[in-house]
Amino acid sequence: MKLHLIAGARPNFVKIAPLVPYLRNAGWVPYLVHSGQHFDDRMSSDFFDDLNLPKPDFHLGRATGSHAQQTAHVMQAYEELFLSEKPELVVVPGDVNASLACAIAAKKCGGRVAHLEAGLRCGDTQMPEEINRRIIDSISDYLWAPSQDAVENLLREGRDNASIKLVGNIMIDALIMMRPALARRQILRTHNLTSGGYILATLHRPANVDNVEVLRLIIQQLAELSTRMPVIFPAHPRTKKVLESMDCAYSATKSIKMMHAERYLDFVHLQQHSRMVITDSGGVQEETSYLGVPCLTVRPSTERPITLEYTNRLVSPEDIYSTSCQILDEPSPEAKAIPFWDGNTAKRIADCLEMLSHRPGINIF
Ligand code: UD1
Repeated sequence: MKLHLIAGARPNFVKIAPLVPYLRNAGWVPYLVHSGQHFDDRMSSDFFDDLNLPKPDFHLGRATGSHAQQTAHVMQAYEELFLSEKPELVVVPGDVNASLACAIAAKKCGGRVAHLEAGLRCGDTQMPEEINRRIIDSISDYLWAPSQDAVENLLREGRDNASIKLVGNIMIDALIMMRPALARRQILRTHNLTSGGYILATLHRPANVDNVEVLRLIIQQLAELSTRMPVIFPAHPRTKKVLESMDCAYSATKSIKMMHAERYLDFVHLQQHSRMVITDSGGVQEETSYLGVPCLTVRPSTERPITLEYTNRLVSPEDIYSTSCQILDEPSPEAKAIPFWDGNTAKRIADCLEMLSHRPGINIF
């Protein structure tokens, strides 16, 4: 049984990595489709190396430009590939444009689609990812949810219980799988940092970085915070572009240690050893919750509310400094177990697929 794993953007490389070793045992032949949304080495090939991913079997070419342009490019390229390859199942992870494009193209060609990380909702339709999530879930045949709240969202939207499976958090599988390699990283030494002695910041959401005034405010807050503890800031290409275009805010970054976007293992190692993290990334909210590292999420809402029961808090740009100071004055929290975030998600998915491979065409759950 032929299966396509769609990965084209940084978080998706992480989400498919734990699956690859399990799929063959479940009777499937996995083909990796690189849908080209991210293409810099630091956003793509370095992730393949760090996560021991095989080279992509197919590459759909670079998908750049506006959301519509990216989505249209991937839809066109994937439709052609789908029709020539005719996979029995297409697995689309997460909520990026490339996942949406492949899900639509596959379904319109009569294919079956599984959504890995189904059911997450923040309720904010200004966010491109929220639009993507809702559409992908509404057309997918199999909905693999990371947490109970995601299952409840899907049921509330009228999805059939039989198509939903609580499989757990696949990103945590990746982190657990890579623990030995993580322990060997030398990035703290490279940047002269001490464990627990710095704050890690990472921001790339359009709402925070595309608006120059908002980004200026965030940078000012981080610069103020750096008077209490060093702040390091690996910048995503989107953020870097905007920062480079704004001289005055860029000068405030002198007190912040700006770095280029870090590869997977170094970035997780930096999270693990930081005193706290300031972010707007979905995956980082999850990783810090699992690791027990305090996290401030610069967003008005989160599609991952379970993280708020652990070490994550939401904050507005103007409150970054004051809320960070409160956290620095508190003792560091202990890591606590989160249900189904246990390193066995890929196995639970493989078990679902094993049943499906024996009963093609029949609903497996
Ligand atoms: C995308 C995802 C977001 C995810 C993020 C992880 C959507 C809607 N958003 O946002 O959910 O958290 O990836 O990084 O799919 N660029 C480069 N080199 C690269 C990659 C991007 O220069 O390797 C440039 C792009 O050309 C674009 C900008 O960075 O100008 C933003 O990239 P894009 O893929 O549009 O969105 P992200 O902000 O990365």
